Amino acid sequence: MKNLKSTFIIIPTFLLLLLSIFAFNNDNVNKVDFSERIVVRQDTTFDAEAALAELREKIKGRENEPAEDVYENLEILNQMPAGRFLNIMNRAFNNSLGVSCDHCHNPDSWESDEKPTKQITRDMWKMVGTINQELLANIDNLQSERPAVNCTVCHRGEIKPSFSIK
Ligand code: HEC
Ligand code: HEC
Repeated sequence: MKNLKSTFIIIPTFLLLLLSIFAFNNDNVNKVDFSERIVVRQDTTFDAEAALAELREKIKGRENEPAEDVYENLEILNQMPAGRFLNIMNRAFNNSLGVSCDHCHNPDSWESDEKPTKQITRDMWKMVGTINQELLANIDNLQSERPAVNCTVCHRGEIKPSFSIK
């Protein structure tokens, strides 16, 4: 009788211990997997400042014209002033992904679509538009009058957004 009683205590205690060890290990495995997926800032030697200076010189006097009149192959930023267009390339694209211009471009041919990342960026731009104009706009009781996301909200200087806080 005494033996049976202690079995009732020992077995559940043992199972509980096993379960907590398993849960703890499982948690660690997840953390390792996630951090291995993260791609941190890309090392690049491409000189974005020099490229921007050259392009600014090339469009001098036309900064306020619509980008589509100044550049050759546009689908999303057509109406943006040509000068501001280059700021978007630098701040919104380079900085938010932690890359340089050559991540999306062959710098010998800016108008070319040869790198898939350039078309991905057009699709990301449209996705951001949908999130802001259709999805966020329909959530009631948010703090901001016009709540919005941009590239940095997800990418935070990384090519591939992280799943966990580092
Ligand atoms: C994350 C991707 C990405 C990065 C990084 C990027 N660009 Fe772009 N760039 C694009 C996309 C997309 C377009 C086309 C925009 C459109 O379709 O309206 C474009 C278009 C251009 C054009 C117009 C070419 C033409 O004649 O059609 C120039 C010039 C340009 N980029 C320069 C730069 C420079 C300089 C940098 C670095 C400071 C840079 N880009 C970084 C994605 C990128
Ligand atoms: C809601 C979150 C979110 C926002 C906002 C967002 N992205 Fe992304 N982006 C992602 C995810 C997720 C991926 C896919 C990563 C993968 O391959 O698993 C991605 C991938 C990319 C890639 C491909 C990277 C590569 O080299 O493989 C580019 C380029 C990119 N995004 C550009 C942008 C730009 C530019 C913006 C702003 C206009 C933007 N993204 C906004 C979530 C986002």
